[in-house]
Amino acid sequence: MSAALASLYAQHLDQVIHDSDAALAASGHDSLLIAAGTPRLRFLDDQAPPFVASPHFLHWLPLTDAPGSWIVHVPGRRPRLIFLQPRDYWHVVPDTPQGYWVEHFDIVTVADENAARLELERSLGEHSAVLGEDGAAGSDIAPNNPPALLARLHWTRACKTAYEITLMRAASRIGTRGHLAAARAFAAGASEFEIHLAYLAASGQTEAELPYANIIGLNTHGAVLHYTRFERARPDARRSLLIDAGGQYAGYASDITRTYAAEPHGDFAALVATLEEMQQILCLDVRAGQPYPELHLEAHRLLGGVLAAHGLVRCSAEAAFAQGITRTFLPHGLGHLLGLQVHDIGGQQSTPEGGRTPPPPEHPYLRLTRTLEPGMVVTIEPGLYFIPMLLDALRATPAGSDVDWARVETFMPCGGIRIEDDVLCTADDPHNLTREAFAALA
Ligand code: GLY
Repeated sequence: MSAALASLYAQHLDQVIHDSDAALAASGHDSLLIAAGTPRLRFLDDQAPPFVASPHFLHWLPLTDAPGSWIVHVPGRRPRLIFLQPRDYWHVVPDTPQGYWVEHFDIVTVADENAARLELERSLGEHSAVLGEDGAAGSDIAPNNPPALLARLHWTRACKTAYEITLMRAASRIGTRGHLAAARAFAAGASEFEIHLAYLAASGQTEAELPYANIIGLNTHGAVLHYTRFERARPDARRSLLIDAGGQYAGYASDITRTYAAEPHGDFAALVATLEEMQQILCLDVRAGQPYPELHLEAHRLLGGVLAAHGLVRCSAEAAFAQGITRTFLPHGLGHLLGLQVHDIGGQQSTPEGGRTPPPPEHPYLRLTRTLEPGMVVTIEPGLYFIPMLLDALRATPAGSDVDWARVETFMPCGGIRIEDDVLCTADDPHNLTREAFAALA
């Protein structure tokens, strides 16, 4: 992949520099200093969570293991990487940079944060923009994180370059390898913990490398949207598995969910199949010019049809939607932007200058309110859950009389369903990165 990546990377860096220069000019800054970040110790402890480089840093180069390093960009000059490579026999020291991206940077290797600070001061001025986490950027250089500059960078980052799409395809392949192994482990009767280990082994990832914590729920645990407990014991009865797990490559994420029924010809399997049909219809609607909130509402209209078709409501699909019954069964957003962060930033931003388009009041958890553009990668992840606290609340309302509660009871032991793909919006038909990755494995 490296030869192809080299030319794609050159184009990507040109785009990043172009966007950064525009953001600097618009916000009145003349240089950009970006901290990779440094691990922050836990409270009253000498241990830190695994290091994750800032997405602003990773947008410039694929250097995921570079705590304490910095990028310095002054418009019109070659970008500089101030690379911290400490003399340290306690920890693994970051490898000397190599690969397709190195030739594009002036790389200054320093052995400690003091040396990094002296290098940074050469470019630091009154009009510098310094991006980093407060109190954790290192080198005594205080980040100012100018909001006007950040807003522009977040806005443009939503549309991925061809280089980024290549990395996201690699992240998808990593995730799908894990998913196939997890499905096999489920079929063999594994516990949640065993499925998790099978996923890690097959995807070749440590927990620290995952783009987000694995969600692996058997039976009723599928009704907890972000269930991350990993029960060690195998359940007495094996009914269903909901697995939401991704892959990470060079900092980029995939975000994939599948739901499996233990009984292939039962009612729950039929419900999963119908939800998947609905999900595939929605994936085809990932098109330039499509306001994402409308897609979210379309998901609810379609879900009304699923509830009616499977006898979960006695009213029409339209009435299930209009009365808000579908919101009980699907209490999260249809999806979000994906990229260097699993919930990539800027999903509710209104303009390059900033501002926010909030989600509709009845759908407060919708993370993406923008209109789709070519280059955006979004998740499409409708669900249908049997969540006791939400069902109890619905039962107490007038709309509750339209629900077939006996039918609902039969599905409760299976927890819930979510099917999630990562879809690239183009100027033409969408590309389903997740389905492509599964197909390549087959
Ligand atoms: N797949 C995890 C999430 O979107 O929150």
